[in-house]
Amino acid sequence: MLIYTNENNPAALKLLIAANYSGTNVDKKIINVNDRTIQEPKHLPYLEVNEDSVIFVPNAAVWFLFPHPENVSTAVNEWLEWESTILAPSLAHVIGAGSKNEKIKSRLTSSFKKLNNALENKLYFTENNLNASDVTIWATLYPLYKDDVLSKEYLADCSNLLKWIKNVEQSPQVKDALNSFAISSATGAYQALLTGARYSLPTAPLPENVSNVSNQSPQHQHEVVTNEELQAAVNAWSKDVNQFPKLKSKPKVVLPNPSDRNILITSALPYVNNVPHLGNIIGCVLSADVFARFCRICNYNTLFIGGTDEYGTATETKALEEGLSCQDICSKYYAIHRDIYEWFNISFDYFGRSSAPEQTELCQDLFLQLNNNGFMFTESVEQLHCEKCNRYLADRFVEGGCPHPGCNYEDARGDQCDGCGKLVNAVELKNPRCKICRSTPKLKTSQQFFIDLPKLEPLLLHWMKKSAPGWSNNAQVIGKSWLREGLKPRCITRDLKWGVPVPLNDFRDKVFYVWFDAPIGYMSISKAYTEEWEQWWRPKPNHEITLYQFMAKDNVPFHAVMFPACLLGANRGYTTVSHIMATEYLNYEDGKFSKSRGVGVFGNDARDTGIPSDVWRFYLLYVRPESQDSSFSWADLATKNNSELLNNLGNFINRALVFAKNNFNKTIPEMKLNKDDFTFLVLCTRELNSYISCLEKAKLRDGIRHILSISRHGNQYMQSNQPWVLLKGSPEDKIRAGTVVGVCCNIACLLATLLHPYMPNTSDILKKQLNVTNTALNPESIEITQFLPPGHTLGEPSPLFTKLEPSRVEELKQKFAGKRGDSPVKMNGIKPMGINDLKVLEAEIAKQENKVKKLKSSRADKKLWQAEEAILVDLRKGLEHAQKSCPVNSVQEPAQEQIKKLEEEVSKQGSVVRKLKEGGANKADWQPEVTKLLELKSKLANLLGTPIVDGQKGKKKK
Ligand SMILES: *[C@@H]1O[C@H](CO)[C@@H](O)[C@H](O)[C@H]1NC(C)=O
Ligand SMILES: *[C@@H]1O[C@H](CO)[C@@H](O)[C@H](O)[C@H]1NC(C)=O
Ligand SMILES: *[C@@H]1O[C@H](CO)[C@@H](O)[C@H](O)[C@H]1NC(C)=O
Ligand SMILES: *[C@@H]1O[C@H](CO)[C@@H](O)[C@H](O)[C@H]1NC(C)=O
Repeated sequence: MLIYTNENNPAALKLLIAANYSGTNVDKKIINVNDRTIQEPKHLPYLEVNEDSVIFVPNAAVWFLFPHPENVSTAVNEWLEWESTILAPSLAHVIGAGSKNEKIKSRLTSSFKKLNNALENKLYFTENNLNASDVTIWATLYPLYKDDVLSKEYLADCSNLLKWIKNVEQSPQVKDALNSFAISSATGAYQALLTGARYSLPTAPLPENVSNVSNQSPQHQHEVVTNEELQAAVNAWSKDVNQFPKLKSKPKVVLPNPSDRNILITSALPYVNNVPHLGNIIGCVLSADVFARFCRICNYNTLFIGGTDEYGTATETKALEEGLSCQDICSKYYAIHRDIYEWFNISFDYFGRSSAPEQTELCQDLFLQLNNNGFMFTESVEQLHCEKCNRYLADRFVEGGCPHPGCNYEDARGDQCDGCGKLVNAVELKNPRCKICRSTPKLKTSQQFFIDLPKLEPLLLHWMKKSAPGWSNNAQVIGKSWLREGLKPRCITRDLKWGVPVPLNDFRDKVFYVWFDAPIGYMSISKAYTEEWEQWWRPKPNHEITLYQFMAKDNVPFHAVMFPACLLGANRGYTTVSHIMATEYLNYEDGKFSKSRGVGVFGNDARDTGIPSDVWRFYLLYVRPESQDSSFSWADLATKNNSELLNNLGNFINRALVFAKNNFNKTIPEMKLNKDDFTFLVLCTRELNSYISCLEKAKLRDGIRHILSISRHGNQYMQSNQPWVLLKGSPEDKIRAGTVVGVCCNIACLLATLLHPYMPNTSDILKKQLNVTNTALNPESIEITQFLPPGHTLGEPSPLFTKLEPSRVEELKQKFAGKRGDSPVKMNGIKPMGINDLKVLEAEIAKQENKVKKLKSSRADKKLWQAEEAILVDLRKGLEHAQKSCPVNSVQEPAQEQIKKLEEEVSKQGSVVRKLKEGGANKADWQPEVTKLLELKSKLANLLGTPIVDGQKGKKKK
């Protein structure tokens, strides 16, 4: 086991002592908290149990290491909890940070009394032997106890406590730990404790009231920064701002440069058969956009490509439904997508389409190359053919039982099983059904092309070893699991019309399957952008291209396995991905977004709410499902809007600018910085440092937190200096006021730059208020200089954000609450509701009914099935709505009523007959009733023959 800690941190001492008591072998590794190369900010200390398991909370690690008997565990836990929430933070702030806050100080003194009383007539805290509670408290008190002055000041009256401290100090386990880990001084130790804790949680609120030390001196910030940091801040501040890099202007066509960092960015091409929802937006285009904007302000040579994925059966289905040609459907949805992304300010250099002529050319070319290189073969394939519909059934037109052993999911799709997540071969489905007419399809054979993935596997394996370390964690896991299972040949052609035709005789009536053709879209869209596209995709030897691909995790296999395999097999020096950045899923409130069910807020809805697109961007990035699924929630959106944007960020910036306007004639005053000011700059520099290192790794969710930390520091700085008071004081005080305001305006200017990737409009507005244009960042030397030197004229300040009223949030929540159900209808605003949508909904309902039933009968947690049941209710509402709005349906409304009545009559009549028969009545008695029943049934059958309802309705009744 390994303990990671910063130097001097008494919390590490706990772990060492606990390890000694338990006889566990531990090593320790000292971390420098300012080291930017550290992989992931964690708080210190933490315990690495093994490669897969890390305990981040020090007291949890003590608990884990220290043997503790059952019967005392509650009491021990209470002490651990108290130590970590009261004792340690109070010591850290009073001794470590020099806080003069009276509340915290008195909490500290009463802590010692509590401890002293607890040891009255007792050797240890919770039993007769030393245990985890003693170790934890002891290590935290030890630095104080060792300091003669502080010990007298705080512990003089605590004789029991002192006796206990000395007693514990004598134990060999403790002595050994002290020998191996030095604690230099009390102040140093509690600073280290604070740094270790803050380091991980840059945005964690300080313990109660610490931020309001307003009328105390700001001294408390002093000790937490080092002299080196202060010196660096002083040097940076005195640099000439003109040495700072300027933002390069964007050329008409972005092409790689040998001297630059050349960054190629793609976001997964959304399918054109639907309106994207918030989950799609944060999963690919928005994430890619933030990263692209960040690269651009770093002056990296950046190309950001996106577009719509237009081929495939989903398009054909949609076209059937809407009675349009495939091309028309694509154009229509292409425009919808493009408009939504424009509204979200997604800064594509080019947003193209995968049905463009370039696609045909490149797709056929890549195929031929792979074929020439021996990575293709043909085989006769059994395909499902529906006689009733007279067509080969593409994967998405069939469903059935999952063929994978152990998974008994009954509604697997033709390409993938939602039950186990594995890919499925449609012909292997158990009991396949045609999704259009529900009849059972038959197998027919035809020749198809296969890509020989097993043959490509060694190449891929070699490549993945080099490339995968740069991928997001989930992408690595998914990619590796694919290779671990071994690759199989995969069919890449289909008997369909809408797609890129196979360029070989005998195959010209077939097209490429969408997963083969879609990723080629990145190249063909680049080609549509510039004829020089190969400079990006087949780079010259002296041009290094780094490819980042953003997507949701369900898209990983295509980008981690299939597409690279094709590129490697073509063997033409294509650019392959070095950073697959995959998100987890974003949920809507407590359910899931779903295209097919139309659940959730969609791109066009977001626009209609009147909430600015920057606020949407901010919130989606704030909850970006980076390492686990996360949820969109209206209430949370409002809280973040008000607390973070308005009260924190907006408040800081507006205060600084308004102050400069009212008291300094919109001009940056002369500034004479003292240690306090530089300390503030050090704290901001640290956040800037972390911001850059997060964004370099595309950790967008963390990046935004560092922005908010800067303005939080800024608010504290302003609050503790109170320029409004200083302004009424002596001439020196006035200069001081000018300094504080000038420094704050400069930090506002830094914020304008840092906000640009996340909130481009807000950043622009702020830049105007500051009267600046340059927003470059210099990742090579991370420092804060006088972006706005004395004498700089500012623009007109105005609030950046306004409050989102709770009543408005409630309104929106209500408006969208019915949304889940009636979303399909809303989508109806774009297209008429078709019979197929009703069928899809009905099928979904049947599925959901099943799910709920299973959950209930399996005695699952109530919450679980209630959530599913809520979805079911929504779905039913949705169906009701949809039936009303379905044009065909509404014409037939009377027929429906009739059917309902008839169904009721049939069932009544049925039970009449049954009762008569069961009651042993004469044939003569029940015969007429049977005739009546048959008549009713045939009437019903006639009605059911109408296209609206087909057999479905009758079936559902059972
Ligand atoms: C963002 O989009 C809006 C509306 O489309 C537009 O007015 C604005 O100029 C865009 N802002 C940026 C920074 O691109
Ligand atoms: C909160 O949302 C409202 C829209 O209702 C918007 O006008 C306002 O600017 C947002 N507030 C912040 C702080 O962004
Ligand atoms: C304020 O600044 C403007 C120029 O920005 C200048 O013309 C004006 O005289 C200044 N007013 C005062 C009171 O200094
Ligand atoms: C912006 O700054 C420039 C240079 O400092 C100055 O000439 C100009 O007047 C300022 N603009 C406004 C609107 O104050």
